[in-house]
Amino acid sequence: MKSLRTLKELEISEILELLEDARKFKNGMVYKLTDKVIANLFFEPSTRTQNSFNMAELKLDMKVINFNAAMSSLQKGETFYDTIKTFEAIGVDALVIRHSQDKYYEEISNIKVPIINAGDGVLSHPSQTLLDLFTIYEEFGKFEGLKVMIVGDIKHSRVAHENIDTMTRLGMKCCVSGALEFKEDCFNWKDFDEGLQEVDVVMMLRIQHERHNEKMQISISEYLEKYGLTHSRVKKMKPQAIIMHPAPFNRGVEIADNVAECEKSRIFKQIENGVFIRQAIIKRSLSWFILWKMQKFMRIKK
Ligand code: CP
Repeated sequence: MKSLRTLKELEISEILELLEDARKFKNGMVYKLTDKVIANLFFEPSTRTQNSFNMAELKLDMKVINFNAAMSSLQKGETFYDTIKTFEAIGVDALVIRHSQDKYYEEISNIKVPIINAGDGVLSHPSQTLLDLFTIYEEFGKFEGLKVMIVGDIKHSRVAHENIDTMTRLGMKCCVSGALEFKEDCFNWKDFDEGLQEVDVVMMLRIQHERHNEKMQISISEYLEKYGLTHSRVKKMKPQAIIMHPAPFNRGVEIADNVAECEKSRIFKQIENGVFIRQAIIKRSLSWFILWKMQKFMRIKK
C-alpha cells in the first residue's frame, strides 16, 4: 500500500518522481480520480495543509470528507484508533491525517487504506518538505551544493527535522540558528548574522508555543531584534538568496512585517506550490491502490 508516512521511507528517485509530477500538475496536467473518496482528518489546527489538500482533491475530481475533530465522537471518549477504523469501515479510499503524536501512523498500521501524513508530532511533515524542495528547485534548478539555514524553534519543528534529513540526502548543506533554548546538538549550528551572508535559502520558523512546557521569558520585540529576520538582516543576504517559511508566520516576531512579502520572500509561492505537490502525493497513493484493488477483484472473479 502506498502510504506516505515520512520521506525517510522513500528512495531519492521516488522523491524526484513526486517533484516531477508536481511540475506536470503546475503545467496543466489533468488527472482524475472521479468518485474516489478521501477524508482529511486533522486532530491539530491547520489552515494551509488542510485546505491545500482539499484544493488538490477537488482538482483531482475527488469526493472529500473534512472531519471536524471538535464536533466528533472524540468528544465522547472515542479513541484515535477507533476513529480511523470507522473511516476505513465506511469505505473511504484514502486518509490524510495530522496528529500531535510522533509516528501516530504506527498505531494504525493495520488500516488497509493509504495514509498520507499531514504532520506527526515534531518528526515529519512530508508534503511540506516536498513543496519546499519544489520551490527551491524552481528557483535554483538544482539541490546539490545549495546552502540552507533554518532559523527558529528547531527543537519543536517537524518541518526542520524532515527538511534537514531530506535536504542533506539531496546534497544540500544545512545549518540551523536562533535562540539557544531551541538548539539541537545533532545539527550544524551557525551564528545567525554570519550564516545569512553565506546561504542560498534562509528558512524562518515560528515559535511553536503550543509544544512548549514553559512560557518564554523574552519579549516579542527582543525576539525580533535577536533572532528575527529584519529588513537590515535581509540586506546582508546574497543577491540571489531567498526567504522561506512554512507558515503560519507571526509578523513582527520571527519575521518583520515588511520582510514577509518582500522581493526575496517565496512564502506565498510555497503555499501555491503546495497544491501541486499534494496532487502528486494523492496520485501516487491512489493510482497504485486502484490497480491493487482491480487485481484483487480479478483474482476473486477467476
Ligand atoms: N505549514 C503548515 O503546516 O501550515 P498549517 O499548520 O496551516 O497547515
